[in-house]
Amino acid sequence: MKTLAIYSMKGGVGKTATSVNLAYWAARSGLKTLLIDLDPQGASSFYFRIKPAKKNWGKRFFKAYENLLKQIKASDYEHLDIIPAHLSFRNFDVILDGLNKRKGRLRKILKGMKKEYDLVILDCPPSIGHLSEAVFTAADQLLVPVIPTTLSERTFEQLLDFFREEDYSKKKILAFFSLVQNQKSMHKNTQESLRSKHSLFLKSVIPFSADVENMGEHRAPVDQFARNKPANKAYYELWKEVARKLK
Ligand SMILES: Nc1ncnc2c1ncn2[C@@H]1O[C@H](COP(=O)(O)OP(=O)(O)OP(=O)(O)O)[C@@H](O)[C@H]1O
Ligand SMILES: [Mg+2]
Repeated sequence: MKTLAIYSMKGGVGKTATSVNLAYWAARSGLKTLLIDLDPQGASSFYFRIKPAKKNWGKRFFKAYENLLKQIKASDYEHLDIIPAHLSFRNFDVILDGLNKRKGRLRKILKGMKKEYDLVILDCPPSIGHLSEAVFTAADQLLVPVIPTTLSERTFEQLLDFFREEDYSKKKILAFFSLVQNQKSMHKNTQESLRSKHSLFLKSVIPFSADVENMGEHRAPVDQFARNKPANKAYYELWKEVARKLK
C-alpha cells in the first residue's frame, strides 16, 4: 500500500480537484483506493456522492482507529472508498493530539489499512502544522500543485526549506504546475525558472479550465462529464506519471 498526499500550504491551488481526479483514475486502473478528505470544508466528499460503506471491519487496533474505519464510505465508483472530511478531520485531530510521537501515528494508522487498500490519497488542508507534519511522515509521496506565479514560487521554496530544516526526505516531494495559463508570460517564465532549478517537477501540467471548475456542478470527476477535453487528458497523464513514481 502506498500513501499519496496532495499537499500545499497555499489555498486554492487545485489540491482537492487533483485528489478527486487522481483517486478516480487510480480506482479505474484497478487499485483499491481510499481517499481521505482532511480538508475541514469537505470538498472531496462533496464531489463524490457518498453511499454507506458495506465494509465490515473487525475490532482491531485502538479506539480512534476503529472509529476512523467505521467512517469509510463507498463511492459511486468501483474500487474507490472515501473518509469524508468533517468526520476524518475531527478524528485525526483526536488521534494526533496529546499523543507522543504523533508525527508517526498517522503513518501507523494508515499501515493498518494495507490489506484493504493499494493506495491511500490524502486531500490536505492548506496549512503547515501538526497535521501537515503527520502527513509528511505518513506519505510515500507528497504531490504539490504549484500555480506558476512569483508568489507560489516563494511558497514552494519555503516548503523545500522546511523539509531541509526538519530533516524530511526531499525525495518525497513531487510537484506539478496547476491552473496553468500559458498565454500569460509570468506563467511561462515561472515554469521555466522553477524547472531549471528543481528536478522534482513532473512533465504533466494541469491547465486552467472551466471543466475543472464545473466539477462542483456535476459533483463528479472531469472524466464523467468532459471526457474528451484537455483537462481530463491532463489529469489522466498526471495520474500515469504519479503512478510510475509510486512504484
Ligand atoms: N485546473 C483548474 N482550472 C480552473 N479552475 C480550477 C482548476 N483547479 C481548481 N480549480 C478551481 O479553483 C478553486 C480551488 O480549487 P481546489 O478546491 O481544488 O483547490 P484547493 O487547493 O483544494 O483549495 P483549498 O486550499 O481551499 O483546499 C475551485 O473553485 C476549483 O473549482
Ligand atoms: Mg481543498
